[in-house]
Amino acid sequence: MTTISTKPIAGQKPGTSGLRKKTPVFMAPHYLENFVQSIFDVVGTRTQDGRGKTFVLGGDGRYFNDTAAQVILRMAAANGAHRVIIGQGALLSTPAASHLIRLNKTDGGIIMSASHNPGGPNEDFGVKFNMSNGGPAPEGVTEAMYKRTTEITAYHILETADIDLSKIGRTAVGEMIVDVVDPVSDYAALMESLFDFPAISAMFKGGFRMRMDSMCAITGPYAVEILEKRLGAAAGTCVNATPLPDFGGMHPDPNPTWAKALMDEMFGPNAPDFGAASDGDGDRNMVVGAGAYVSPSDSLAVLAANAHLAPGYKAGLKGVARSMPTSAAADRVAASLGIASYETPTGWKFFGNLLDAGRATICGEESFGTGSDHVREKDGLWAILLWLNILAVRKQSVAAILAEHWAKFGRNYYSRHDFEAIASDKADAMMAELRGALATLPGTTLEGLTVQAADDFAYTDPVDGSISKAQGVRILFEDGSRIVLRLSGTGTEGATLRLYLERYAAGPDGLDLDPQMALAPVIRAAHTLAQIESFTGRVAPDVIT
Ligand code: G6P
Ligand code: ZN
Repeated sequence: MTTISTKPIAGQKPGTSGLRKKTPVFMAPHYLENFVQSIFDVVGTRTQDGRGKTFVLGGDGRYFNDTAAQVILRMAAANGAHRVIIGQGALLSTPAASHLIRLNKTDGGIIMSASHNPGGPNEDFGVKFNMSNGGPAPEGVTEAMYKRTTEITAYHILETADIDLSKIGRTAVGEMIVDVVDPVSDYAALMESLFDFPAISAMFKGGFRMRMDSMCAITGPYAVEILEKRLGAAAGTCVNATPLPDFGGMHPDPNPTWAKALMDEMFGPNAPDFGAASDGDGDRNMVVGAGAYVSPSDSLAVLAANAHLAPGYKAGLKGVARSMPTSAAADRVAASLGIASYETPTGWKFFGNLLDAGRATICGEESFGTGSDHVREKDGLWAILLWLNILAVRKQSVAAILAEHWAKFGRNYYSRHDFEAIASDKADAMMAELRGALATLPGTTLEGLTVQAADDFAYTDPVDGSISKAQGVRILFEDGSRIVLRLSGTGTEGATLRLYLERYAAGPDGLDLDPQMALAPVIRAAHTLAQIESFTGRVAPDVIT
């Protein structure tokens, strides 16, 4: 074992979901090591009675994943960990890692991923720590890690040859046990315990056609095993199913812009019945029916309303949670089910306490994340399988299910507009001016909309009482329409402005408009109120979801 002296490196502050940087930054001398040592310094590698801890390790297979895994293993051993459970080839989807942490009652895990950001020598890399409940480290812990990076003077590492991670089985690094496990099997078994696999298989046997686009990222092997092998979907249902270090040049973010090939197929002639895509590390999902795009906010609402059709949720839901910028569609479902609904800041970690405390069963975010209390991360394939289960039971098309849902609950027209790679100072100035003007907005009318209330969202966690401030500007109008603005916490280049737009239509008329048309006045009001063009020079978004 050697102890290497090092110096703090600026900027190792975890964002919404771990530390994400350009790959060359992560590959620079001591960069990864400093951060990993700070993780171990904060969470500890020994239990209170002095036994070495057990961790899970895996990543989404992006460039540098394999090298980083070797470094982390050697550092875990040098820091005194007892055992690391690692996916074969250092691969694990984020939800599968969360499951392994819980299944094996480990002390947490390190996930190597920059989620939906592109991968490659000049793209993005990331590292995050998940706690023993399987969920992302809460802010107090990531703050402590960051603080540690600013004081670090040394890290510990074992000098040893690379560990063979290609074969399943037990090996060792120094005195530390390394268990190389199949990344898919435990996760697939969990899915089989939650969903009606015979019903879904029967649907596929009856000619139901699906397209699953894994975008050359981690869910490929999971999707092939579960959809094609276990559920009998036709061979070739899963495309882009081999994880590649650069995701084949794709931007593995499942939304209509980046999963364009899937959208084209689903809106083209002879479209399959159901389409889905997932992101780099497998926690995000997009679902789409033949000619029917399902917005993530609607997906959450439909899943909440129909979850009881799946065996794992037949006892009903304890509550539904959504992030603040996600539309209120799920709240309407919760109200009709007579269960609690929660509105949290952006970031899956805010659902952890609600899930642990048994207050919420299903959670979702507009950012293409949906999940439940089966793990402590959002879970792309889980959402896709729940949709399949619902389709198998209801025997209706996605479009018909959406139409019935809106007829019953009304429709929360919704869209998110992203303005990417804005100069950070300009984005900050825009948000500061908007925040400064909030108190003056109520009563203002523009585009026929009158502002009822405007604030900067703050959240008090109902379980531990912790308070999170400045989580996004909300402008609420008298007719129930809403504008939300916040800056992304996951980007690695400049700032990304996210503009979230919502308008409620009670029906029965006006439930099948194009969302951009339905939202047009709200969009115009947002541009005027936030002065987007004068601050950023942008008139149109780069991405619309
Ligand atoms: C990650 C988190 C999500 C969160 C999203 C927001 O994917 O896991 O929980 O919703 O980031 O990203 P943003 O770029 O909007 O901060
Ligand atoms: Zn992700």
